[in-house]
Amino acid sequence: MSAHGVLEHYQQYLPLTEKTPRLSLGEGNTPLVRSTALSQETACEIYFKLEGCNPTGSFKDRGMVVAMAKAAESGARAVVCASTGNTSASAAAYATRAGLTCAVLIPSGQIARGKLAQAYVYGAKILAIDGNFDRALELTRELGEQFNLAIVNSINPHRLEGQKTAAFEIVDELGRAPDILALPVGNAGNITAYWKGFIEYANLKKSARPKMWGFQAEGAAPLVSGKPVAEPHTVATAIKIGNPASWSGAVRARDESGGEISAVSDDEIRAAHAYLAAREGIFVEPASAASVAGILKKQRAGKLERGQTIVCVLTGNGLKDIDFALASGFRIETLPAETDTIVRALELFSENKFL
Ligand code: F0G
Repeated sequence: MSAHGVLEHYQQYLPLTEKTPRLSLGEGNTPLVRSTALSQETACEIYFKLEGCNPTGSFKDRGMVVAMAKAAESGARAVVCASTGNTSASAAAYATRAGLTCAVLIPSGQIARGKLAQAYVYGAKILAIDGNFDRALELTRELGEQFNLAIVNSINPHRLEGQKTAAFEIVDELGRAPDILALPVGNAGNITAYWKGFIEYANLKKSARPKMWGFQAEGAAPLVSGKPVAEPHTVATAIKIGNPASWSGAVRARDESGGEISAVSDDEIRAAHAYLAAREGIFVEPASAASVAGILKKQRAGKLERGQTIVCVLTGNGLKDIDFALASGFRIETLPAETDTIVRALELFSENKFL
């Protein structure tokens, strides 16, 4: 794939016209990295799709580039979205690129600071509301209806069109569909988009389809319980959502693929986050760790058949949420700038064969 981004590379699969501006920040074409530790532990072939390598550090860029280009094409002057953080970062960047004004509605105090910094530096109008994501999305819908604002949440079908390209990349790179696709589920746009992508590719290229395994955080698992959660809670703020907009899309992906949507606890998310960093060398944000938490949970329960090919989608970059990363007892001591002291400090590690 060239470095021109999703619109150029996948134009034949996207709803573009000659008038659609070919926006790009170089999104898509993200690495599919084979797991070493997790593959060994599970006796499966596990791959990680590193969506944190997108220009604003999350998978949202794939869909945002399409939604923003279509908004510009339709003559919109401004866009709006509700967000748990990543959508707002991506919308702010691509709005700037498209020359549009961007407003983002976020649940006050519940957004990882890296994401907030992104929306801020890209120049979005940030509106923090006294309410959760689900309320922010309701308000966004109202604003979209009342004013000439393009909504760039995943209720905008162009977002899903762009996001489905990740499924294409996986099939192209593996040479076939994986047996299982594991991913975190919040507002459920991404699971809906992946399933659309796998179906389209299956029809075009006669490839098989994976089982879709979605994972929600226990305190925010409406698709597991089957009913909306009024006050969702989880450390994985990106997926702290009680009433997913793409509910029916997620259920369809689950049922048509013979997959499932289940829950992982915050402790399991923390453990998977640490596992990915310390065992695989991959730093993700907490929500992204839900896919790996889910696979590890299945393995412990003896419900993971050996020999399967599994792709875990790692949706966002760990640098977005360093408060989470440093919360587990990070402490650093400043030493005098002397060789002897440094050597002595390093000797502490000698049992671990540091020196
Ligand atoms: N992972 C990350 C890092 C996310 O930011 C999100 C959603 C998801 C997973 C879940 O994806 O909503 O399509 O099921 N973030 C949205 C946002 C809600 O506003 O940034 P989903």
